[in-house]
Amino acid sequence: MTKHPTSEQLEITQGLCQSPAKISPKYFYDTNGSALFEEITRLQAYYPTRTEAAIMARHAQEIAGSIGANRMLIELGAGNCQKAKVLCELINPTHFVAVDISEAFLQEAVAAMRLAFPHIRIEAIASDLTAEVVLPASLPAQGRLVFYPGSSIGNFDPPHALALLSRMRGLLQDDGAMLIGVDLVKNQTVLNAAYDDDAGVTAAFNLNILNHVNRLIGSNFDTAQWLHRAFFNPEQLRIEMHLQAKTDLLVRWTGGTRRFDAGERIHTENSYKYRIEDFVALLTRAGFSQTQVWTDDQDWFAVVLAKP
Ligand code: AVJ
Repeated sequence: MTKHPTSEQLEITQGLCQSPAKISPKYFYDTNGSALFEEITRLQAYYPTRTEAAIMARHAQEIAGSIGANRMLIELGAGNCQKAKVLCELINPTHFVAVDISEAFLQEAVAAMRLAFPHIRIEAIASDLTAEVVLPASLPAQGRLVFYPGSSIGNFDPPHALALLSRMRGLLQDDGAMLIGVDLVKNQTVLNAAYDDDAGVTAAFNLNILNHVNRLIGSNFDTAQWLHRAFFNPEQLRIEMHLQAKTDLLVRWTGGTRRFDAGERIHTENSYKYRIEDFVALLTRAGFSQTQVWTDDQDWFAVVLAKP
């Protein structure tokens, strides 16, 4: 890797050499990380997944009616395709394109979707959403529905979220639509517990990024030397996740090293929380002029249907 590092390797090593060091949250999702994330979604403390599912179930008929029939469904960050399964049952799309960064995990989920929905044309695309998503040439441009559930938009800071939403708008014609899940600002105790669960699953998920990075850049991170840190930052309206060195450390990889003092952190994730009006304003700036919002009784999470 010294002579010809991949762009992935360059991105990771450059992030590690910054102060503070950082690793992009997209590297959480190796096969083990995707499985750990699934485990997170089943935790009592992690409210987003079940709250979003409850909103979708409660307002299913109204959401389906607003989406309309004969859609080409494109899901970004499809993961285990659990949410797509529910949506396919609801709107019976003609096509389903599943995009996810975790290829092996995605292939397995898509195989199950093909069995469950033999009449829907289903394709899998292994892609990172920070890159341009190249859709199959056979996918019609009309009638597309981009589905981006789970509040993964929260991983992007506001300027990058605007850029991503604008690119999604760019995938659509005037008859297109986007259904997106957004996590909302709420009580800090609830937020902190969701990202620092007592069972330690989120800690394992955060630490696992080091194992993935070890394989990607040939580094010697030892997860036993690091602590999981997660907290709400009220100025920036985001959960931050970090890994904190327990002692002074020297980490080596093919072509580089980085010293960490005891207590020093690697920033691994931001998860932005929105006020509904701010998110709708962002959608407007991204080129969506019509929005419909559904929330739960506590206003913890929002499902938004946005149209050009
Ligand atoms: C997949 C980005 C929506 O931000 O809540 C869960 C990832 N990180 N617990 C989130 C995550 C820690 C999750 N997203």
